[in-house]
Amino acid sequence: MPLLTRYLPEEADTLAFGSALAFCLKPGLVIYLIGELGAGKTTLARGILRGLGHTGKVKSPSFALVEPYTFSRLYLYHFDFYRFMKPRELEEAGFREYFRPDSVCLVEWPENAAGLLPAADIRITMTVQGSGRQLEIDADTEVGRRCLKQLIR
Ligand SMILES: Nc1ncnc2c1ncn2[C@@H]1O[C@H](COP(=O)(O)OP(=O)(O)O)[C@@H](O)[C@H]1O
Ligand SMILES: [Mg+2]
Repeated sequence: MPLLTRYLPEEADTLAFGSALAFCLKPGLVIYLIGELGAGKTTLARGILRGLGHTGKVKSPSFALVEPYTFSRLYLYHFDFYRFMKPRELEEAGFREYFRPDSVCLVEWPENAAGLLPAADIRITMTVQGSGRQLEIDADTEVGRRCLKQLIR
């Protein structure tokens, strides 16, 4: 059973949930965003970024691999491994250097970099359900669980 499930009827709910999650983020967290194309992963990332105070556009990092953001509280790196990269390409992009104790990493399509990525603290799975989205969240570490507890409270 996932630690937390939520039905998000429309896009605004995904953004609002992301904003709520933003307030519980701690430096060092690795968050996997799992789901098919169109499941709402980038929308959730956009909600998180807005919650942290980002007012500009949120680009889908598919081709750039990673979009970096800096906030007063933390560094946030938004990855998208949709475009499968060979392990060597990933290493050459220096992607490991982004996973630090002072950064939060949001990762779309972590499946495509399995075995190379640090393990997730939190896994968020999104699925299309009717006209909305079903969200399931799991925490795999103590920091992850603490973050979610704060969110539920
Ligand atoms: N809760 C929701 N209900 C309905 N549509 C949503 C919801 N959340 C996001 N969407 C829509 O889903 C579409 C795809 O979203 P996107 O975040 O790009 O998906 P992904 O990154 O998983 O491919 C967008 O048009 C977005 O508006
Ligand atoms: Mg996306």
